[in-house]
Amino acid sequence: MPQPTAPTTAAADRLADREQNATRLLRASAKHSYDPLTEIDWDAPVDPDQFAVAPHRLSLYGTPLWERLTPRQQARFSVHQFASTTSAGIWFELVLMEGLIRHVYAGDLTTRHAQYALTEVADECRHSTMFARYISATGYPSARPTRRADRLGKLHFLINDTTMTFAGAIFVEEFTDAMQREMIRDDSLQPLARSVARIHVIEEARHIGYAKPEFERRWAAMGAPRRALFRRALAVLANQAVLEIVHPRVYALAGLDPREAQRVAAANPHWREARIDWARKAVEFFTELGVIDHTVEKMWRRASLLR
Ligand SMILES: [Fe+2]
Ligand SMILES: [Fe+2]
Repeated sequence: MPQPTAPTTAAADRLADREQNATRLLRASAKHSYDPLTEIDWDAPVDPDQFAVAPHRLSLYGTPLWERLTPRQQARFSVHQFASTTSAGIWFELVLMEGLIRHVYAGDLTTRHAQYALTEVADECRHSTMFARYISATGYPSARPTRRADRLGKLHFLINDTTMTFAGAIFVEEFTDAMQREMIRDDSLQPLARSVARIHVIEEARHIGYAKPEFERRWAAMGAPRRALFRRALAVLANQAVLEIVHPRVYALAGLDPREAQRVAAANPHWREARIDWARKAVEFFTELGVIDHTVEKMWRRASLLR
């Protein structure tokens, strides 16, 4: 006979862990939260020859198309690639915020766990505004996602899968975290881009600390058929999120044919290396849990997120 008290105790322990984690994250948020509108000097002059992202981390670096650009055009390309990345950030953060709001709606706002979800929404509101300001400051023309990403976002609104919301958050946040940490370390890069990266990295670390244990709890409770479907859906989402960081308009703005440039970027070993490096932490996390396994490894490899 199973002990009737055992599952109840385990469930209570899980809830206590969840509350403890949220309490810690709320405390950290109270100490280290930034208002980018006042924290960043948006009117400081921008040096047109300074890169926003290191050259070897740009999608066309090392290709014949890259060699066709003047050094100033290359620097401008790097600024546009980062602006496009922040635009993809806005797209993803809006989808994430919607998912977190639904998560709170389904829960109880007297819990620390739900209160932290709203704190994270507040962080993401500031990030999306910050990214939009960066886009405007650099003259990048739009914060609109590609049509494909737009459709995927709307599909997520319809499906409303909270577990996928958390998995997507872990992938995107670990990926941008790795990219932006490189930017912070490199003081030859554009100060404006580095300020944006710095604020984002500090606040995103908490989001990852919130999403990971929540995802682990949900994954542990998921049955085999749903897991099989989930593995594929996450691989699709990760691929799309990474494709979105270089919008075709980045190539058009450099005077290149977007289709040709996209083909060249897709085959560029430097760009493949960058994406694999930035995805590493998320891929390790999902592999350990079995969310990435032999059934989907090929999809991750094809997306240049796994060696
Ligand atoms: Fe963010
Ligand atoms: Fe976040």
